Amino acid sequence: MLNFDFYNPTRISFGQGRIAELDRFVPASAHVMVLYGGQSAQRTGTLDEVKNALGARQVHLFGGVEANPTYEKLMEAVEIVRAEQIDFLLAVGGGSVIDGTKFVAAAALYADEPWNILLSGGRDIKQALPMGAVLTLAATGSEMNNGSVITRQSLQAKLPFHNDLVFPQFSILDPTKSFTLPERQVANGVVDAFVHVMEQYLTYPVNASVQDRFSEGLLQTLIEQGPLALSQPDDYAVRANLMWVATLALNGLIGAGVPQDWSTHLIGHELTALYGLDHAQTLAIILPAMMHERRVPKREKLLQYAERVWGLGDGDEEQRIDAAIEQTREFFETLGVKTRLKDYGLAQDAVEAALQQLEQHGMLQLGEHKDIDLAVSRRVLEASL
Ligand code: NZQ
Ligand code: ZN
Repeated sequence: MLNFDFYNPTRISFGQGRIAELDRFVPASAHVMVLYGGQSAQRTGTLDEVKNALGARQVHLFGGVEANPTYEKLMEAVEIVRAEQIDFLLAVGGGSVIDGTKFVAAAALYADEPWNILLSGGRDIKQALPMGAVLTLAATGSEMNNGSVITRQSLQAKLPFHNDLVFPQFSILDPTKSFTLPERQVANGVVDAFVHVMEQYLTYPVNASVQDRFSEGLLQTLIEQGPLALSQPDDYAVRANLMWVATLALNGLIGAGVPQDWSTHLIGHELTALYGLDHAQTLAIILPAMMHERRVPKREKLLQYAERVWGLGDGDEEQRIDAAIEQTREFFETLGVKTRLKDYGLAQDAVEAALQQLEQHGMLQLGEHKDIDLAVSRRVLEASL
């Protein structure tokens, strides 16, 4: 196991009816901006529940944070926060709203041009406003991590940043809030969480038995519970398990002390920025092809994944690896998430465009060995057609 530091200051309040606890977590004197997305927070009544819980506090509502949140929209919130001296931010939504709120928290106090937060990967953030989250979609783990992904429409760039100052102080995870999700978003959440685990697990062995068994447990839970969330959409226990899996998949725990890949995500982000595909759809496209392309450097963990997650422990090793990759693709397809570029109307020109964006964004040495260059990315994208 590699040396590591583990830090996670986010308090989690988990269970039905916990939004009322906002009154305990948000300072009574706070001037709060509540950020939310399109219609869902209003339509589901969650926004009203939040406003009631905030009681007599001064509250400014900021709606319209898009799925795949944009710099352009969020800078409107930054201007308001600065002008009205708002001192606490509350995200109500999924990963897009929470990520957007993290950006506003940092940008509001950032002396330089806020886009530099993305260009520097968040390294030079010196201060950020305090924030909390009410999660309505189990997928990204943003409710309990220090990361965020922001799109600048004018540049067609979708870039991540990380900084410990943007950890939510608290997140309220009420699984019933996810009951109103359309099937597509439920499936997206399962796929995104699955690939988060794979990015931190399917690399090479470092004797991290704890992280390996933890990751394999998260993967098995997603395989077992994911389809149930579609077949039994009102089952609280299923939604509760999926919400907790998604949070633990990317809150730093399984990633501590192990090599991490993230190439599937970084290539996927380009497809979202270029063609507006859902984040999880891009992962379902790229991951199977990436597993096949990297079967030699990932061999030991591919065999461990085949045996411990899919029960493929016997027979020819190459066939076990093929079967594990196929099972993974099959799992995404049974959730209704297609796994080829052509399923989204994309062809060779999308491969060329994505490669250009990867080059433009300096994504030239990806993966746990930093050896995924444009030639490898090309092979992966072409194998995904
Ligand atoms: O806009 P509204 O009306 O709220 O609709 C949203 C949105 O259109 C809807 N929705 C959310 N909760 C709902 C609901 N509809 C009905 N009922 C509810 N309870 O779902 C749509 C998608 O929401 P979004 O927040 O975009 O989905 P998700 O949580 O999957 O977040 C995706 C974003 O997270 C980023 C992705 O890049 C993408 O921008 N990620 C963030 C990460 C992080 N911070 O660690 C890591 C991830 O890998 C990912 O990159
Ligand atoms: Zn993701």
